[in-house]
Amino acid sequence: MPDQPILVTCPKRSTPYLEAELETLGFPIKDTVETGVFTEGSMEDCWRLNLQSRTGLRVLYQFAEFRASDAETLYQKAGKLPWHKWIANDGYVCIISSVLTECIDNTQFARMKLKDAVVDQIRDKTGQRPDSGPDQNATVVFLFWRDDRVMLYFDTSGRPLSNRGYRVHPWKAPVRETLAASMIAATRWDKESHFINPMCGSGTLAIEAALMALGRPPGFLRENFGFMHLSSFDAEKYKEFRSSIPKATRKQLPFTIQASDINSEAIDAAKHNAKLAGVEHLIDFQVGDFRDLNLPEEPGVIVMNPEYGERLGEEKKLEGLYRQIGDFFKQKAAGYWAYVFTGNMKLSKRIGLRASRRIEFYNGPIDCRLLEYELYSGTKRTSFRGDR
Ligand SMILES: C[S@@+](CC[C@H](N)C(=O)[O-])C[C@H]1O[C@@H](n2cnc3c(N)ncnc32)[C@H](O)[C@@H]1O
Repeated sequence: MPDQPILVTCPKRSTPYLEAELETLGFPIKDTVETGVFTEGSMEDCWRLNLQSRTGLRVLYQFAEFRASDAETLYQKAGKLPWHKWIANDGYVCIISSVLTECIDNTQFARMKLKDAVVDQIRDKTGQRPDSGPDQNATVVFLFWRDDRVMLYFDTSGRPLSNRGYRVHPWKAPVRETLAASMIAATRWDKESHFINPMCGSGTLAIEAALMALGRPPGFLRENFGFMHLSSFDAEKYKEFRSSIPKATRKQLPFTIQASDINSEAIDAAKHNAKLAGVEHLIDFQVGDFRDLNLPEEPGVIVMNPEYGERLGEEKKLEGLYRQIGDFFKQKAAGYWAYVFTGNMKLSKRIGLRASRRIEFYNGPIDCRLLEYELYSGTKRTSFRGDR
């Protein structure tokens, strides 16, 4: 398939990290929107993005654009596209959408009209129609409709890329793998110094850090992508392509990645997940209260994601915990850069230290901050990934 616009989506406020990642991978940045970055390339470029992107959620390959001011026009114009060449008549198609237009007031109806256009065209051409439904382990078509502008994409990821495949045991309130990768990219961690993750829960941050430090493409953990369900998919060529991508640049790490949690079940889950991700041997797991941790000698980063009390009454209980985090930073972590990811600004004040940066994120719909603290060691100022 030829070079076309490609939209890589991500959560709101994660675009700076996605842009940087695309540039590192050699993709041009064509445009940036609230929840994604446009680049361009071929279907093989989509394979690469699916395998190598850490912060992107979906890789969307645009294949059609037209104007439609009502559902019938959508059906007629979409029905003229050669779907039978792209989707097998015994296959399965899933339609997802972002529809914000006055041309139609029912998003579900828009999806149904597009689905009808696809399956009717394939039936007319081949005598058999594919199945359709919500399963995203299939050919996924993304309908984007704004005003009278319709854009159609193949969602070459299928299920979002945050489903890396390693987190079979989520612990309490886990962050998505892609969000964890963006958070780490926002820190000053240089992949050459310690990465300390107290309150690790299911271990997402430590696992993502280990994958990054190794240079292991996260998509290598997944067997199923949307592009595999297109008729043009050549499994042999893909196998060759996949093996041409550098796997891991190193086997061992000359620094510590530490993941700890007060709850032993969380650590069991984190270990299991790390094993599936192939990085269990690179993470030093510990059960215990973060206040009792002995940190390796600086430099390094500490990244913590404490609970932030979304339900009434929880906030009061958590005040002490945030105060203890501040005390831990002051008393035990001199020389480190420390980060707290939280959705509760009131609680973050209890840390009692002045944040050097307050980096904005969204965790789903929750307005969050990754707060950065520079913890001076004596008179020495530690700075190991440039000043920002
Ligand atoms: C919001 S969860 C972290 C989720 C994690 N980022 C993930 O992706 O799975 C907070 C974790 O802090 C742990 N925790 C609470 N108090 C702690 C303490 N005093 N010391 C260490 N861990 C603690 C809880 O057991 C819980 O697993």
